[in-house]
Amino acid sequence: MVKRNPHFSRLSKNYLFPEVTRRARSFENLISLSIGDTSEPIPHAITEAMKKAATQLGSRKGYRGYGAEQGNAALREKISEVIYKGKISADEIFISDGAKCDIGRLQILFGSDKTIAVQNPAYPVYVDTGLMLNQKVVYMECLPENNFFPNTFPDADLLYLCSPNNPTGSVATHAQLENLVQWAKKSNTFIIFDAAYSGFIQDPTLPESIYEIEGADEIAIEVSSFSKLIGFTGVRLGWSVIPKNMTYAEGGSVHDDYTRVVTTFFNGASNISQAGGLAALDHPDEIAKLSTYYLENARLIKKALESKECRIYGGENAPYLWVDFGKIESWDLFQMVLEKTKLITTPGSGFGSCGEGYLRFSAFGNRTQILNAVKRIETQWPEQLSP
Ligand code: MLT
Repeated sequence: MVKRNPHFSRLSKNYLFPEVTRRARSFENLISLSIGDTSEPIPHAITEAMKKAATQLGSRKGYRGYGAEQGNAALREKISEVIYKGKISADEIFISDGAKCDIGRLQILFGSDKTIAVQNPAYPVYVDTGLMLNQKVVYMECLPENNFFPNTFPDADLLYLCSPNNPTGSVATHAQLENLVQWAKKSNTFIIFDAAYSGFIQDPTLPESIYEIEGADEIAIEVSSFSKLIGFTGVRLGWSVIPKNMTYAEGGSVHDDYTRVVTTFFNGASNISQAGGLAALDHPDEIAKLSTYYLENARLIKKALESKECRIYGGENAPYLWVDFGKIESWDLFQMVLEKTKLITTPGSGFGSCGEGYLRFSAFGNRTQILNAVKRIETQWPEQLSP
C-alpha cells in the first residue's frame, strides 16, 4: 500500500464550507448566509457574449481548440486597461479558472521550504494549501483594535493579505499598504495580495489594488476574480498578476517561472468564460449594480443585527459582516443560530483562532432570502444572544 502524504495530517478533516454544509444537513427551510456564493443572474450583455462564443464553437469557421495557457490576449489587454489603468501590462496578467485555483498554483511556484505569514483570521485556502506543501505558517493577529490589519509583520518568505478582507470585511488603507510594501522590500518578503473583493470598495480613498502603491510591482503578486465581480462563481474566471520586475534573491524572473507553472499544468481558462469576462469589463455599470445590490443586503442584515447582543464590523466596502458575540465559541454560536432561525452562517473560528467568538454573515443571497433572513433575526433570534 502507498503511504499517505504525511502533511495531510496537519489539516482538519473537511474544508470549512463542506463542514458547514454537513452540520446543517439535517435541517429544513434553511437560508444560507454562509459561503460567499453569488445569487443574482449574470447581466444579459454578458450571457449574450458567452452564447455567441459557444455558438461560434459549433461552426467550422469559429471553432477553436486550446487557447494560450496565459489567457486570451484581448482579455489580458482589457484587464490591464480597465482594472490596472495601464500600470500593469497585459503580459504580466495570467487568466485562470479562479483566484482559489491560482493560490494553489502559486504555492507550487514557491515550494515547500517556505514560511508563509497569514492574517488571523484569514480565508482558509492560504493556510490549507500551505500545510499540504509542508510550508511553515506564521500568523498575524487581526483584531478590532487594529482595524483587522496586522500591527507587525513576522519573518516570512510570503505574506498573504486580503483586502477587502474575507472574512472581516475591513479594507487596508493606502498608508497601511505603503508601510507593508516598504517592509516587504526591506525584509525580502513577497506579498500575495488577494483583491477578489475589490469591486465592492465604495470609499474612493481606499486602494483597490496593491499596485496603487509605488514599488509594489517589485515584490507583490495580486490574485483576483470575476466570481464576485459579475457572478461568475459557477462560470469560473480569475487572474493573477506576476510583475516582470519581481526577481528572486539569487536573481531570475518570478514571471518566467510562473509561466512555466501555468504552461505545465493548466491549459487556459474556458474560451466561453473568457468571452464573458471581456464583455463584463465593457459594462462597468453592470458590475457596479451588482455590488450595490449585495452591499444593500449587507446593510439590511446589519440593521437587523444591531438590536442584538453583538458588535458588527464590515459590510460597507465588502460583502461580509464580521460579528463578535463575545465569549461564546463560534461553532456553538453557529448551532444556536441554526437551530432557532434556520439560518446558516460561518463560524469565525473556521478562519483562524482570532475568529473565535465571531460569526461571518455573507450578503450574497437574493433579496427575498435576505428579507426572510432579516425577519428571522428579528423574530426567532436565540435568547442567549439577545440583550
Ligand atoms: C467564502 O465564502 O469565503 C468564499 O466564497 C469562498 C471562495 O471564494 O472560495
